[in-house]
Amino acid sequence: MPKMVFIAADGVTRTEVDAPLGLSVLEIAHRNGIDLEGACEGSLACSTCHVVVDPAFFDKLEEPKEEEEDMLDLAFGLTHTSRLGCQILMTDELDGLVVRLPVATRNMMVDKR
Ligand code: FES
Repeated sequence: MPKMVFIAADGVTRTEVDAPLGLSVLEIAHRNGIDLEGACEGSLACSTCHVVVDPAFFDKLEEPKEEEEDMLDLAFGLTHTSRLGCQILMTDELDGLVVRLPVATRNMMVDKR
């Protein structure tokens, strides 16, 4: 089973978790109680699943769709290796993937919980 690592917004706390193939980084976060919001549940209508990908893995990711680029433009704390967590699907190549949670997200959707 591939693994991946989430680094908390504090930049220090590392959590290594199982990363089943085909699941998105957002789904993996939710399964493991990682504080990544994902307000639109992967429908590219928010930017609350923004993660900062470790540069060592960034080039292994599929190119982002235009919709993802548009949403990322709205993300707070955008970096050169920012991606939307719901759009990164786990593959064998990404085993060991490291992503950091951004310091803050901007949520423009109504919280339904
Ligand atoms: Fe909304 Fe990823 S969860 S764009």
